[in-house]
Amino acid sequence: MRLSDGRSALDFGSYAVTLLGHRHPAVVAAVRAQLDTMPTSTRSLANPVAARAAARLAAYFGGRAPGGRLLPKVYFGLNGADAVEVAVKLARLATGRGRVLAVRGGFHGKSLGALGLTHSALFRTGLLGTRTDVVHVAADDAGAVRREAARGPGVAAVVFEPVQGENGAAVLPVEVLRRWCADAHAHGAFAIADEIQCGLRRCGEPSVALAAGLPVDAVLVGKPLGGGVVPLSAVVCSEEMYAPLAADPFLHSATFGGHPLSCAALDPALTAIEELAGRGGVLADALDGALAALAAAHPGVVGAVTGAGLLRGIDFTSARAAGAVVVELAGAGLLVSPCLGRPTTVRLLPPLVCSEREIAEAAEILDAAVTVASRSGAVPAAAAPAPPPPRAPGSASAPHPHRTLGDDT
Ligand SMILES: Cc1ncc(COP(=O)(O)O)c(C=O)c1O
Repeated sequence: MRLSDGRSALDFGSYAVTLLGHRHPAVVAAVRAQLDTMPTSTRSLANPVAARAAARLAAYFGGRAPGGRLLPKVYFGLNGADAVEVAVKLARLATGRGRVLAVRGGFHGKSLGALGLTHSALFRTGLLGTRTDVVHVAADDAGAVRREAARGPGVAAVVFEPVQGENGAAVLPVEVLRRWCADAHAHGAFAIADEIQCGLRRCGEPSVALAAGLPVDAVLVGKPLGGGVVPLSAVVCSEEMYAPLAADPFLHSATFGGHPLSCAALDPALTAIEELAGRGGVLADALDGALAALAAAHPGVVGAVTGAGLLRGIDFTSARAAGAVVVELAGAGLLVSPCLGRPTTVRLLPPLVCSEREIAEAAEILDAAVTVASRSGAVPAAAAPAPPPPRAPGSASAPHPHRTLGDDT
């Protein structure tokens, strides 16, 4: 990508939006064509662009979840937080219950409703009264949903990110998630997979939860859904969960929800993502090799490598070292995303459109930046060890215990 000062940079950040890079030509062309025909909609009449996009998105996820649950319904928002808010609102209305379970370390957005599910105290300072309906459970606590359901009052939903991006690219244990889904359903509650960051092939599959065989009632997507060109998010869910909105479409609406310019991007974005899906595995393997070499070259500085697919974390032995590396990288032309919920981890989010040569180039820049940060004193000789890192996929080590910042549960 080209910066405003004329320099070029590799974008391995952008908070996971630019899975297709910047200005993907097919997406730009579709949005431009839409601009010339119907740039906005009346809201008084159905909008065919949104209807086509909804049908395409439901079909993209195969129309059903494991266990036979149909997922035919789609609600479009603009930001990830919109999708989280709507999913929770529908779950509460459909069950008639108020309580929601979320996961420690999870990030679901910063608008007030979504913020209740986001775990880090960093984002909630001064807003403590907004979260009474949410209980945060530990990611390795398989019995949490059953226990909370028994405790009462009734639970409407359990919401989880299969891979927690903001929490240092922490891969949640799939057997725990399976148990949570089963226990939620036994209690008459919904299971909601927030894949706004990890879905749409960022971690290899269209949906991490569906590919793992989890019988979820909703998958939430956003970030690259608009092809990295326009804002777009969605709730893809069951008829049962969508029922309150089907009964009364005015129950939740937003002036720009399902906006034609955003919806026009969806079809070319999904097509491009699927065309590049095979590349994702090749790039992820190249990244694996490069990050393993980095960890081996800097044993006192790099604690662990985490994540899955093209959502990876480099966990440093101190937050200061991670911060120094992010600054070095920006100066050297590699843009990455910090993890605000786990400041020892630097997140790498390479796009599907990058080359193996660019992964190698990024690895060289990383190696140099870590070396500079080490020499600058950002890594104190007797640095306090960082908390244990999130579990890498396939690792036999214990699950990440999820450092709890101002836990309010
Ligand atoms: C998993 C997840 N859910 C929800 C959100 C909120 O999305 P937005 O910032 O678009 O509101 C994010 C943003 O990073 C996210 O990673």
